[in-house]
Amino acid sequence: MRFPIEEVRAAYPALSDGYAYLDGAAGTQTPAPVIEAIARAYREGIGNVGGAFPASRRSDAIVAGARRAVADLVGGDPRGVIFGPNMTTLTYRLSRALVGPGDEVVLSRLDHDANVRPWVQTGATIRWAEVDTVTGELPVEQYGELIGPRTKLVAVTAASNVLGTRPDVAAITDLAHRAGALTYVDGVHATAHGPVDVRELGADFYATSAYKWSGPHIGAVVADPELLETVRPDKLASSPDDIPERFETGTAAIADLAGVTAAVDHLAGLAEGNGTRRERLLASMAAAEAHELALFDVLIEGLQTMPDVTLYGKPARRTATAYFTVAGRTPREVAEHLAGLGVNVWNGHNYAWELTGALGIREAGSAVRAGLVHYNDASDVQRLLEGVRSIPRGRP
Ligand SMILES: Cc1ncc(COP(=O)(O)O)c(C=O)c1O
Repeated sequence: MRFPIEEVRAAYPALSDGYAYLDGAAGTQTPAPVIEAIARAYREGIGNVGGAFPASRRSDAIVAGARRAVADLVGGDPRGVIFGPNMTTLTYRLSRALVGPGDEVVLSRLDHDANVRPWVQTGATIRWAEVDTVTGELPVEQYGELIGPRTKLVAVTAASNVLGTRPDVAAITDLAHRAGALTYVDGVHATAHGPVDVRELGADFYATSAYKWSGPHIGAVVADPELLETVRPDKLASSPDDIPERFETGTAAIADLAGVTAAVDHLAGLAEGNGTRRERLLASMAAAEAHELALFDVLIEGLQTMPDVTLYGKPARRTATAYFTVAGRTPREVAEHLAGLGVNVWNGHNYAWELTGALGIREAGSAVRAGLVHYNDASDVQRLLEGVRSIPRGRP
């Protein structure tokens, strides 16, 4: 299927500034319909939810619409979509409600620290799944040893935010479920890069963040409503006890939730297609993934031809995310050089704290991350490659 890259790019006002935005893994740019949906909510008037007057009813509709949209995006149930300021805050909150001292939790060193530290700090006993530091894979076999009768929960990422590795989450969650454990899957990086089905993944909890997929800064966790009925987070005496509301603290960013729905609608329309929004999302995200991976082949091959570039990881299944260093230059120097040429990349550990420690690169500034999302094109890739080629070699 042809991916309409020119039309897709035209939807993003920020892309007209001439920069090559290869920093999407840290947060994407925002298309016009999302900006307009947020502005429209404010312009038309919103109120707190649950009131008797029209502006409040508009807010009720915005919140309900956003739950339906995120459910469509990941194949979940709208009654199980919890919103919060970001994934980290939601994970801290849920971790306290799900596990505590005396429980065993299995974590992976591939994960972003937001799916690690909140669990560690519950006081639970941690068992670690290790990364193959050469391939960047998270071998499934080790989970047979790690998961046991005392395991309360297995937390694992659906994709690494630096290496792009897509572990075999379905196999890991299957082992967890056989042992009676819950699963908490970090989909923050993965959601932007292809179709998602939380049931296929076996994710009891699936966390995502709209600002990684063209939406505003809103986090969401998607779970089976029946499971949520059994979980009791700390909450105010006065706030609703229903699900999913009892997992949401304080007043929601209501206008931004209008932007969440617009972002999902935008993703559903990336490629041509008919059917329900869920069906269009599956087709669009598959087309976006194919587009990204085709460009990524060129990016990786280009970096591989440069003898002084070290690429980290070569996982079999991955997102279009490259993590590399250039001999003799710190990651920050590389990022600054590229920024001077109008190419946006990230340098540093990108919160992949355990992973950069395991790779032994954290102390030296970790590496440079260049990631592709659906709005990147061939010229972005060429500009990155030319930029890396043009870095002055050797110390002056
Ligand atoms: C894989 C992954 N997990 C979790 C997070 C944290 O998400 P948030 O910024 O919504 O707290 C990020 C953010 O970079 C991420 O890339």
